[in-house]
Amino acid sequence: MVIRYLGSKAFLSRCLDGLLPASTETLVSPFFGSGKAEYHLLRTRPSLRVEARDLFRTLVRLHQCLQTGELQEALRSSQGRAYSKAELRELWAEFKSAADQEPSCADAARLLVLLHNSFNGQLGKVQPHAPMGERFFHRLDAATAAGQRLTIRAGDGLEQLRHYAREDQTPDQTPPPETVAYVDPPYYGHGDFRRYYHKTPDDVRAFHAELAAVLARLRIPWILSLNDVPEVRALYVDHDCLVRSVGPRELLFLGPSRFWSS
Ligand SMILES: C[S@@+](CC[C@H](N)C(=O)[O-])C[C@H]1O[C@@H](n2cnc3c(N)ncnc32)[C@H](O)[C@@H]1O
Repeated sequence: MVIRYLGSKAFLSRCLDGLLPASTETLVSPFFGSGKAEYHLLRTRPSLRVEARDLFRTLVRLHQCLQTGELQEALRSSQGRAYSKAELRELWAEFKSAADQEPSCADAARLLVLLHNSFNGQLGKVQPHAPMGERFFHRLDAATAAGQRLTIRAGDGLEQLRHYAREDQTPDQTPPPETVAYVDPPYYGHGDFRRYYHKTPDDVRAFHAELAAVLARLRIPWILSLNDVPEVRALYVDHDCLVRSVGPRELLFLGPSRFWSS
C-alpha cells in the first residue's frame, strides 16, 4: 500500500511471506496501521483473509473507503494535487478539530493527504511532496482489489487477541495452523514519537505487559514484531517462542516455538 505511516513495516513483507505457512487462511492483525505487509500478503495470496483492528478511527475509515473506491473518488475530485506548507497546516488544524466526530471518506482522504505530505509518515509533521499522480492511484486501485478480503474495525487490538486466548491450553495441544496472528503494536518506549503517532498507549509498560500476558495464552500461532530493547527481551524471556533479529533494531518473536520449528 502507498500510505506513508510512522512505524510501517514494509520491510517485513517478504520476511512474513516466507514465514507464513501456505495453509494460512486467516491472518489476525490487531494493530493494523497502514497494513503494508498485510496488503502485500493479500495481493500475493489470493485466498488469504485478514481480520484487522486499529484504534485510529480515521485510519480505519481510510481502509474501509479504499475497499469501496470512495477514497479514490474523494482524492481525485480535489485532493491528489500538490499542497503548500500553509495549506497543509490548515488541513492538519481541520483534522484535529474533527477528531471527535465519526470520520467520513472525506476525512479519510484528508488523512491520506496529510500522511502523503509528511516527514517520514509522522502525522502532523507537514512536508510538501509531489502530487499523488497516476501511479499512486494505480496502487490504490490494487489495494482496493486486494482489500476485498480484509475486514477491519476500529477497536482495541488487545480485545481482538483475547478472543483467541484461552485459559485451558495445555502444552501438548497443537494450535490450528490455518489462523495466524501478526502482531505489530506501537514500539516499547519511543517517547519522542508520541505526538506524531496518533494512538500510543498512555502507559507503555502496562500495555506491553498485558500484551505479553495475552500472547502467552494465545491458542493460535503468532508473530510479534517489536523494537530490540532490553525491556522487550525481558518481557518475552520466559515465553514459549523463538526470537529472531531482523536488522539491527527489530526483533521477531515467533510463538509457540513448536509451531515454528516444525
Ligand atoms: C507499529 S503501528 C502498526 C504499523 C503497521 N504494521 C504498518 O505497517 O503500518 C501500531 C498501530 O497500532 C495502533 N494501536 C495502538 N494501540 C492500539 C490498541 N490498543 N488497539 C489497536 N490498535 C492500536 C496505532 O494506531 C498504530 O496504527
